[in-house]
Amino acid sequence: MKKDLDWSSLGFGYIATDYRYSSKFKDGAWDEGQLITDSMITLSECAGVFQYAQTIFEGLKAYSTKDGHIVCFRPDLNAARMADSAKRLEMPVFPEDRFIDAVCQVVKANQDWVPPYGSGATLYIRPYMMGTNPVIGVKPANEYEFRVFATPVGPYFKGGAKPIVIKVSDFDRAAPHGTGHIKAGLNYAMSLHAIVTAHDEGFAENMYLDPESRTKVEETGGANFIFITKDGTLVTPKSDSILPSITRRSIMYVVEHYLGMKVEHRPVYFDEVKDFAECGLCGTAAVISPVGRIVNHDTVIDIPAGMEEMGPVTKKLYDTLTGIQMGSIEAPEGWIKKIC
Ligand code: PLP
Ligand code: COI
Repeated sequence: MKKDLDWSSLGFGYIATDYRYSSKFKDGAWDEGQLITDSMITLSECAGVFQYAQTIFEGLKAYSTKDGHIVCFRPDLNAARMADSAKRLEMPVFPEDRFIDAVCQVVKANQDWVPPYGSGATLYIRPYMMGTNPVIGVKPANEYEFRVFATPVGPYFKGGAKPIVIKVSDFDRAAPHGTGHIKAGLNYAMSLHAIVTAHDEGFAENMYLDPESRTKVEETGGANFIFITKDGTLVTPKSDSILPSITRRSIMYVVEHYLGMKVEHRPVYFDEVKDFAECGLCGTAAVISPVGRIVNHDTVIDIPAGMEEMGPVTKKLYDTLTGIQMGSIEAPEGWIKKIC
């Protein structure tokens, strides 16, 4: 029986669900792993995660489809990205097939928490891993725990699909050099001051520029950028220091193969932003969220699509992407993992 929640009024918050998955790494090997009910974790005060922030995570969603199934979207790409994150932080890789299996187990065990089709909510899935044994000299841990929990969520930005106002951050996206493209806790901790500052000033998010020249658009705190030119081409920033968004990579494919539009994946200069017709943020949590205005101190860029609703191309993209994710539009081979 579905839980008795007011699904359509959920925001992007944490609600503990019934089951989570845990597997532990010790003496060079992962144990079998299992579903557990305890949401709490007790660790040494000196655990690697606390002392040197040795922790990585992923984010994906499970969807209820129109025909009554529960699916998730391209979990193989989350497994692969988590493996890259693990290597960069000197952590053992949790095998990619086991990652997908763990995600499926957690979703299946919590199926009463998967928001119904059409409710506007989804089940957000958070795989993560941390160093658990005491480390006091600067070095990697040698024991780890891999976990997966799930929580029902609504829209990431208040106001749902309404365009948001963002600012150009005065702070650099302060990921330690060479880690910007991986999903590691320390990268996000370094962005917290910037996001609190932006929120205090009334902005929904930050646009980060490249720290070296501060001329190129990178990404926001939790999503990649997409832009639509006046003649209907999708332009999206190429940078080694942004997270390789699975949503963005999927959108690039959909734009070309489903909508017959052109795609440009290249450096995008802040100076060009004023010339685009539409702007949006894309990610698992953000889905596709329209941006209506970008403020850089005294310079205000009003995106022609406006503050009332998504621009027409962004809307078409949103409908196609979410249609694929929720089963009303046929997906490319291998994109949808049916769970139950
Ligand atoms: N960029 C950042 C910094 C993110 O946190 C996320 C969210 O995961 C994304 C981009 C979007 O990535 P994805 O589409 O894989 O969720
Ligand atoms: C995601 O979209 O999965 C993210 O990680 C964004 C944010 C919640 C950090």
